[in-house]
Amino acid sequence: MGVTGGIAAYKIPSLVRLIKKSNCETEIILTGSAENFVTRMTLETLSGKKVWTDDDFGSSIPHIKLSQWADVLVIAPCTANTLAKISHGIADNLLTSAMIASDCPVLIFPAMNEKMYGNPATQENINILKSRGVKIVEPSDGELACGDSGKGRMPEPHDIMHEIFRALCVHDMAGKNVLVTAGPTHEYIDPVRFISNPSTGKMGSSMARSAWYRGANVKVIAGPVEIDGWGMEFIHVKSAVEMLNAVKNNLSWADYVVKAAAVGDYKAKEFSPVKLKREGKDSITIELVQNPDIAAEIGRVKREGQILIGFAAETDNVSENARSKIIRKNLDYILANDVSAEGSGFAYDTNTLRLIPRNESETEQVFTGLKEDISFDVWSRIIAG
Ligand SMILES: Cc1cc2nc3c(=O)[nH]c(=O)nc-3n(C[C@H](O)[C@H](O)[C@H](O)COP(=O)(O)O)c2cc1C
Repeated sequence: MGVTGGIAAYKIPSLVRLIKKSNCETEIILTGSAENFVTRMTLETLSGKKVWTDDDFGSSIPHIKLSQWADVLVIAPCTANTLAKISHGIADNLLTSAMIASDCPVLIFPAMNEKMYGNPATQENINILKSRGVKIVEPSDGELACGDSGKGRMPEPHDIMHEIFRALCVHDMAGKNVLVTAGPTHEYIDPVRFISNPSTGKMGSSMARSAWYRGANVKVIAGPVEIDGWGMEFIHVKSAVEMLNAVKNNLSWADYVVKAAAVGDYKAKEFSPVKLKREGKDSITIELVQNPDIAAEIGRVKREGQILIGFAAETDNVSENARSKIIRKNLDYILANDVSAEGSGFAYDTNTLRLIPRNESETEQVFTGLKEDISFDVWSRIIAG
């Protein structure tokens, strides 16, 4: 990791902690200017390793060893100055020399005032680097340290980690479009009350995230839950009907459709446009009517080659019930989970899923573990065909 002299360097200690927690190893190079923004001692304490500076440049040749050791070179934040140097092959310090000596993927996070970012010189330098295969992660819009507001903010450490993982993964889903539904639906009875379920969207977001790490383009149609969405396109919906419309509108785009949302099977027959009052009523009866079955509707109209992956949350006869859904809904795979099993289903970080292929000659496979880990393994199996 290279750190240059931008104000966003204050976020780097948090990033180093996340890298360490994720079991990746990091070697850090500070430019002379970066040392004004973040101390060597802070980073050495957090990384548990020596931090490299220009004092180390000259006596030995650390830039060659460091660039050969790395699986990915991340420059965060990257100043306008360093961008200009590395796009022109200038190698006048340890970091820029490591850059020109590296042959691993390079990930750059420019961060600066928006005028500096928009300057034609900076934009041309970015384009030069892109044309050489360097991945530039655009700064976000927002309040800047100088008091201005605009495009120039370095992404948060948590989001930088997503980009690092993506850079480290084999992109065996590059060019594939993956549409994922996630989370619960809210079926409103009146303007302030709804029927829902405890889905947190974790399984859907894990499937989406793993596909994104593997290079896919990912759109998530999300019910009303908070989902960590860096890098992915989001369409927010509330009810099953809204979710169905969003899926239909995006269906032709998708190579894979993952139906991980916990869609309400029923909605209130009558929606009351005014809040229902309790006065004078000991009990009320709400008549429920069926919602559309999104998976079945999509199964009817899916195009040749499109892969539909459904989820089945079951409490009994898990395999049999799931198998009948494959046929009824014209799915290619079902991921069945027994939500009554310990550590499985709604809101847990872990899950046990049985992957059931449509083709009965293919074997079923059980995946157990963290949702983010099993999603990765499920994709490996599905893309292998
Ligand atoms: C307080 C302060 C904040 C700065 N913030 C940034 C910044 O966010 N982005 C940037 O490109 N340059 C910024 N600069 C300018 C760089 O520090 C300057 O261009 C320096 O030469 C960069 O050196 P380096 O690229 O070798 O680290 C800042 C300068 C100062 C004094």
